[in-house]
Amino acid sequence: MSEGDQDHRGHWESSSSAGRLNVPSALDWQIDWHRLARPANFHTHHGVTQLFTIAADVPLAKEDILFVPSLNGTGPGNRADPICAYSRWRFPPSLLLPGTAMAQKFITTVDILFAFLCLFILNGLLRRRRNGVLLPPGPKGLPLIGNVLDMPSEKQWLTFAKWGEQWGDICSVTVLGQPFIILNSAKVATAMLDKKSSIYSDRPVLQMGGNLVGWVNTLVLIPYGDRFRRFRRLFHRVIGTSASMKKFSHVEEFETRKFLRRVLTKPGDLAAHVRHTAGAIILRISHGYEVKEVGDPFVELADQATEQFSLSTAPGGYLVDVLPILRHIPSWFPGAGFQRTAKLWAATLNQMVDQPHQFVKRQMVVGTASTSFTSSLMEGKSISAEEELDIKWSSASLYSGGADTTVSAIYSFFLAMALYPEVAKKAQAEIDVVVGNDRLPAFDDRPYLPYVDALVKEVFRWHAVVPTGVPHRVMEDDIHDGYLIPNGALVIANIWQLTHDPAVYANPDVFNPDRFLATESKAAEPDPRGVCFGFGRRICPGMQLADASVFISCAMSLAVFDISKCVENGVVIEPVHENTTGTISHPKPFKCSIKPRSQKAVSLIQADEHK
Ligand code: HEM
Repeated sequence: MSEGDQDHRGHWESSSSAGRLNVPSALDWQIDWHRLARPANFHTHHGVTQLFTIAADVPLAKEDILFVPSLNGTGPGNRADPICAYSRWRFPPSLLLPGTAMAQKFITTVDILFAFLCLFILNGLLRRRRNGVLLPPGPKGLPLIGNVLDMPSEKQWLTFAKWGEQWGDICSVTVLGQPFIILNSAKVATAMLDKKSSIYSDRPVLQMGGNLVGWVNTLVLIPYGDRFRRFRRLFHRVIGTSASMKKFSHVEEFETRKFLRRVLTKPGDLAAHVRHTAGAIILRISHGYEVKEVGDPFVELADQATEQFSLSTAPGGYLVDVLPILRHIPSWFPGAGFQRTAKLWAATLNQMVDQPHQFVKRQMVVGTASTSFTSSLMEGKSISAEEELDIKWSSASLYSGGADTTVSAIYSFFLAMALYPEVAKKAQAEIDVVVGNDRLPAFDDRPYLPYVDALVKEVFRWHAVVPTGVPHRVMEDDIHDGYLIPNGALVIANIWQLTHDPAVYANPDVFNPDRFLATESKAAEPDPRGVCFGFGRRICPGMQLADASVFISCAMSLAVFDISKCVENGVVIEPVHENTTGTISHPKPFKCSIKPRSQKAVSLIQADEHK
């Protein structure tokens, strides 16, 4: 039998002695391969993470859609070692169906409705109870659709917090057959997501944004498994500790000085300056790339791709997420516009991932690459194609995970300073004493600035950047506090509630850094960084970087600017702290006045012009 032939029992056999793989007849992976160079690697998720390589000589026409069969590992290539077995695998041309042949596989509406109905009925029968153990309590849903109508479309964290008051720290809802477990206290979130992280660390499978567009290749959506662990190791090596972050301190300080100059010149464009600076810092750290002041191609590409990420992963945005079977619809089919959109967005994503990577490679060849996440992982040893792919996608994960989040935190700092001038004054007094007026604060000053340090903690607590976290998917049935947490349930830690729980934080809506400074009569309140970066094996791998960026922005800005409420025509404009809805929540746009504290401060900002 030649490589990739099928025998009469439906087995595929590789002549490269990789062994036998049992291939069920159902074809259930769809890959739009033609955007990818070949040999091309595909990561797919089907209970386990699998890696396929399509060899360069498989005869495919440009517009072919490739269907890869679901593979059950029955030898090498099973869960233990997916890469080595599949990396030599070639798929025979008979499996490669041109787009038009897809009609043969097309599912009728009746099939869809039937599948839908089965799902609901099964859900009713199986989900709420298993061996007499019940799901955590929660609002009573309707037959078939469950809690669809109870699910809030705005500011979900507020409704989740109310459910917490009514039903307890662990409550649950079921939406179209999908159970959601909602956690409303740090104690229960830690007990479940930290302590039992070996079974609570998968991510939801998102058809549109994840599989069709391709965000499943970035760390935040990567399924739990070997590839996830490899990505996490790369992150840890380069930005995982405060010691490893030290090599990027000068980048943070340099870019933040540029930020001060932009704010001095155009204070009214604060939001744009914050965004530009966050992107600039991440691209310097991820790829050693210095962004242009205006119209930078990489920043534009990354912003476009992250915008498309939000659209493609928005809950309820695409029917294919509710009915995954629809992913088989070919793009030419009426109503399959989402397939064409997915192709376009996949192209943007691939460019965002590839172009900065090629930039680093070119720089490394001529010896001009500066230290970055990518260059430090690429240099010094020969890198396999798989390793390079990991480096490329994990480096891109820095931007997608880090840019928008940091923007939200720093923007909220300016809002807090406008609303709480007495806090700004106290922090400025500390900076004046410790740093003086002849230089800007630096990272080395942090241990001597306890109030500014407390202020940074309060920024993370007061405005929840990721208010409902990122869902964790349970990988096997668990019984927690006597409740059933079924395999496949999505667990949501209500981070907003955890950082605004009045039992933990006194007057939680008030911005008050003093809460973190112990006095003789009062212990410090818990450090919010213990919960605002998430939990367990999925905890934010960029938290050291985020903490450094927020500290240096707060300290430098307070050193040189007075931030206050705007006065227009004699009327004070009261800013309001309101969060936008979304996985990453921003303060709604607000106006504030930002003025240099003194002529000395102006000279300090401008003195650094040529550094
Ligand atoms: C204010 C700043 C930030 C906040 C509040 C924040 C918060 C979070 C949270 C809550 C999660 C989900 C954790 C979980 O599932 O339990 C997360 C994941 C993640 N964050 Fe951050 N983050 C911030 C900044 C950053 C930065 C600067 C980077 C990168 C440089 C980054 C990269 C990531 C990545 C890649 C993930 C996915 C991790 C995984 O799924 O394994 N974040 N972050």
